[in-house]
Amino acid sequence: MDLVTIYWENKAVHLIDQTLLPSEEKVISITDYTDLAEAIKKLKVRGAPAIGVAGAFGMALASTYSKKTDKTDFLKEMAEAGDIIAATRPTAVNLFWALKKISDVIMENKDREIVEIKRLILEKALQIWKDDIDICNSIGKNASVLFRSGDRILTHCNAGSLATVKYGTALAGVYYAFNEGKSIEVYADETRPLLQGARLTSWELNKSGIPVTVLCDNMSASLISRGKINKIIVGADRIAANGDTANKIGTFGLAIIARYHNIPFYVAAPLSTFDFELTDGSKIPIEQRSSEELSYFNKKRIIPEGVRIYNPAFDVTPSNLISAWISEKGIAEKAEKFKEWL
Ligand code: MRU
Repeated sequence: MDLVTIYWENKAVHLIDQTLLPSEEKVISITDYTDLAEAIKKLKVRGAPAIGVAGAFGMALASTYSKKTDKTDFLKEMAEAGDIIAATRPTAVNLFWALKKISDVIMENKDREIVEIKRLILEKALQIWKDDIDICNSIGKNASVLFRSGDRILTHCNAGSLATVKYGTALAGVYYAFNEGKSIEVYADETRPLLQGARLTSWELNKSGIPVTVLCDNMSASLISRGKINKIIVGADRIAANGDTANKIGTFGLAIIARYHNIPFYVAAPLSTFDFELTDGSKIPIEQRSSEELSYFNKKRIIPEGVRIYNPAFDVTPSNLISAWISEKGIAEKAEKFKEWL
């Protein structure tokens, strides 16, 4: 899959507006970091690794367009930009990982000329972008060994090219295996309420020629019970030190169904998604999104006014339901192995 979801060119960030897919494939250009923060909030760019890259580019925009000539004012403006970008989405730790990489560069070079700090911020953001491509390629290679011809693989949400700069995490393994000539097919949960599976996963797999079937989220237990699926692979937004994994709401239920039917449940993610400061998943902050995402469908109200709405964007799958985690460093069947990856 050669699709590039987000890139930097001519002092602007260019990204595929994912809210318009699949009906419109449009690249939007952003030069104001507050607009980029808004694009993250509204899911124009989404998926943990892509959010991290977008955050780093947001800082590059803030510094590129800063008019401050006084060092203290410039550093203050960078800190404010960091706070605004950090406040967009709380669960994907990749965002905070990328912002920390940029703030480390600023702090380590704070005694240099402003123009030099600006150059170093952009250099770091571009490095994060490039590393994401290489890392996803390695994840794909590592995950591909899990797949054989004849596999029918279920996935949830979108952990494909659109969720990263290129290739994806969970789908990187699928692309890799497919390109190796393995005959595989994918089933994509539609992923209510924002339909990342129906709109995005099916779009990119279809574009790549990989057979894909979409089903409603509430159909997976039935599909699996009929022996139609033999593997599940998903991405992650944050993985705690013990392996508990936050991913799109509905992932936990899928892991329970997988265990009941004795099929493997895999999680693919870069090391930037691992949060070793959190001992377990109970400490992962879960984003709560607006009630309108549920109460309206196709701009039509489908839940009566005044009814309370529960809309968490993510859930946490306990470590013991996960067969293995795949990162750029390899495959770990136990969370204890994460230490070897550092
Ligand atoms: O709300 P989203 O669309 O950003 O949620 C994305 C997911 O849950 C993905 O599965 C996760 O970020 C992994 S992306 C490689």
